[in-house]
Amino acid sequence: MALLITNQGHSLRLASFLMLILAFCSSKAFCSRQLYGDNEITVVRHEEWMAQHGRTYNDAQEKEMRHNIFKNNVEFVKAFNKNKKGKKYTLSVNKFADKTNEEIRPMRNGYKRKQRSGLMSDSLIASPFRYGNVSNVPSSVDWRLSGAVTAVKNQGYECGCCWAFASVATIEGLNKLKTRNLIPLSEQELVDCDTSSYNHGCNGGNSKVAYDYMINRNRSLATEDNYPYQAKDGGICKTASAAPAAGAITITGYENVPANNEDALLKAVANQPVSVAVDIDAEEFKYYSGGVYTGPCGTNLSHEVTAVGYGTSNDGTKYWLLKNSWGKDWGEGGYMRLQRDVPAKEGLCGIAMEATYPTA
Ligand SMILES: *[C@@H]1O[C@H](CO)[C@@H](O)[C@H](O)[C@H]1NC(C)=O
Ligand SMILES: *[C@@H]1O[C@H](CO)[C@@H](O)[C@H](O)[C@H]1NC(C)=O
Ligand SMILES: *[C@@H]1O[C@H](CO)[C@@H](O)[C@H](O)[C@H]1NC(C)=O
Repeated sequence: MALLITNQGHSLRLASFLMLILAFCSSKAFCSRQLYGDNEITVVRHEEWMAQHGRTYNDAQEKEMRHNIFKNNVEFVKAFNKNKKGKKYTLSVNKFADKTNEEIRPMRNGYKRKQRSGLMSDSLIASPFRYGNVSNVPSSVDWRLSGAVTAVKNQGYECGCCWAFASVATIEGLNKLKTRNLIPLSEQELVDCDTSSYNHGCNGGNSKVAYDYMINRNRSLATEDNYPYQAKDGGICKTASAAPAAGAITITGYENVPANNEDALLKAVANQPVSVAVDIDAEEFKYYSGGVYTGPCGTNLSHEVTAVGYGTSNDGTKYWLLKNSWGKDWGEGGYMRLQRDVPAKEGLCGIAMEATYPTA
């Protein structure tokens, strides 16, 4: 088909042919992968993608620049999906496809490991792990089925506050378990108000320090509705105007899951949603669209998410169920299944290295 186009040579005809494909593609049914094989077709695909994602560009120059990024990413995704051998997950050309890694760096690098904060070391503040003696854990857990997980949220490209989303999700979950209320709580309160020693709003942070903030203030967070997310550092802490959520717990402490121990993590996640840090530097993570993610990844922890369950897939692969904060249109409706019980003690992508959860 592409050959046909080039031989015809007429740019007018090419244009109308591309329009025709575009029309087909908008109706989806005719839009097969093969149609997208060549450069000319990538232009159409880019335009279709722009429409789908409501993307516009300032001028032709930006469009060309974006198109080149888009093309490379389409090729990356296509090459990955083509070679299915041994792979347990697929990628898709999602909303990140026209962005450079530099542009979305905050979204991918919001986790800062807690070093000595200058106050007390984390091991002094955290209480001992309470689930060490748990013996019977279910073979699978999905906290969504218990109504303990709020809808998937979206931190946006430019604000590195995964730590706020990860910690808030654990508190929303604990609150449901303790009070039966599922109340979406405010990440923006943490971004604006937790200026303690180590959390820096959109410039990164860590769930443990977020828990410290909440414990020190001795009140629950504001609701998401009363203190909505802005995807930027607000500068001003508005807790005077945003009252603590009625019906929400005040956390009294937090505990760390013993490091490098997936069994301990299993015991914790069987009992409540847990905040976990993972290394997501790989391109594959960005375009993950479904299945059980099996790497590549290292252990350079860069992003924090919430483990809201675990299980075993149909082909027998064990996984952790992770709630991400990149919107519903990433992964499996905003979630990822990440391989569990790997030989490395750190867990895949370092998931067992820095897990933590709140207590009340
Ligand atoms: C676990 O069991 C041991 C032995 O019975 C006991 O000493 C320890 O305090 C228990 N730990 C927790 C966290 O309950
Ligand atoms: C936290 O607030 C509650 C209720 O206002 C109060 O009973 C409790 O003593 C406070 N705890 C601390 C550690 O200040
Ligand atoms: C780990 O991540 C940090 C922050 O992105 C980066 O500066 C550093 O080079 C990374 N280290 C390795 C070994 O990849």
